[in-house]
Amino acid sequence: MSRFIDSYNRQINYMRISITDRCNLRCVYCMPSDGVKTVNNKEILTLEEIIRIAKIATDLGVRKIRITGGEPLIRKNIVYLISSLSKLPYVEDLSLTTNGLLLKQYAHSLALAGLKRVNISLDSLDAEKYKSITRGGDIKEVIEGIKEAERWGLTPIKINVVPVRGFNDSEIENFAYLSILAPYQIRFIEFMPIGDKEFWNEKRYITTNEIKERLLSIAPLIPVTTEKSGPANYFKFKDAKGLIGFISPISNHFCFSCNRLRLTADGKIRPCLFSKTEIDLKSPLRHGASDEEIKRLLRLSVEIKPLRHEINEEDSLCYLNKSISQIGG
Ligand code: 5AD
Ligand code: SF4
Repeated sequence: MSRFIDSYNRQINYMRISITDRCNLRCVYCMPSDGVKTVNNKEILTLEEIIRIAKIATDLGVRKIRITGGEPLIRKNIVYLISSLSKLPYVEDLSLTTNGLLLKQYAHSLALAGLKRVNISLDSLDAEKYKSITRGGDIKEVIEGIKEAERWGLTPIKINVVPVRGFNDSEIENFAYLSILAPYQIRFIEFMPIGDKEFWNEKRYITTNEIKERLLSIAPLIPVTTEKSGPANYFKFKDAKGLIGFISPISNHFCFSCNRLRLTADGKIRPCLFSKTEIDLKSPLRHGASDEEIKRLLRLSVEIKPLRHEINEEDSLCYLNKSISQIGG
């Protein structure tokens, strides 16, 4: 295998590919009610372009691919994309992050196409609250989608929750109880200073430690080592079917073990979620660049990958004026 290693000796073997910057929800923390500016359709990579980049990246050493958005399941021919990516010789893990609304419809065909598992974003277990956080989402669809994903083996099911103070933090314990009853990995993600500027406020950010303390007052949390190392630290309650994970991009950033590159829907490589620099692959691709040239640009993206993000360098958190849907979740 060729070595795809950055300037800090981190092996890059994971690519997150955003396939659309559009979404069928408008989560309050992610975007304003009228949405965010999306790029013109012809600026979005075609599926063939995505497959080509993925193939070249796997030649360099990428083994793990995650499809994100926006909401990836609104992209036409998503099943064809998954099926093509799953056939690439070196792809060992192929997963997708979704809000779950369309999962009921797609879970079976995605599983047949070779998708291994899904992460579902779910910030409330209460139908009314869910509707208000997502500005109109129907939680019933998501629950049915999760069940369908389980049924077709898109497991382990990971549920991503972003606790926001004064908003859904009253549900932290309920989410934790869910990990006792169901074989899901409930992952609490620290609210990052990114998304809708009007909504972001440091007072709304809740640290992993605070969540952990609240859960410890219910019962002890037993540390769990999972076979695949990622940014989450896992725990479980005794006899629980599922796990509780903490993802702490702010209070305990995991940059030193970062193994990923991101490809945006419009064809740019972002070496880090918080990068100010992006490397454009789309223009070279559309001007006839060879695989070797694309490889060179991918190696360059890895070379300039920063040691760590610096959102919490100062006394207060630095806000990034972009939505996750634009960067790729
Ligand atoms: N902080 C943390 N997570 C966020 N997401 C979107 N915006 C933010 C933010 N500001 C999450 C979504 C979803 C994933 C794609 O990114 O909740 O789980
Ligand atoms: Fe919500 Fe994700 Fe859509 Fe943003 S991209 S509005 S967080 S579902």
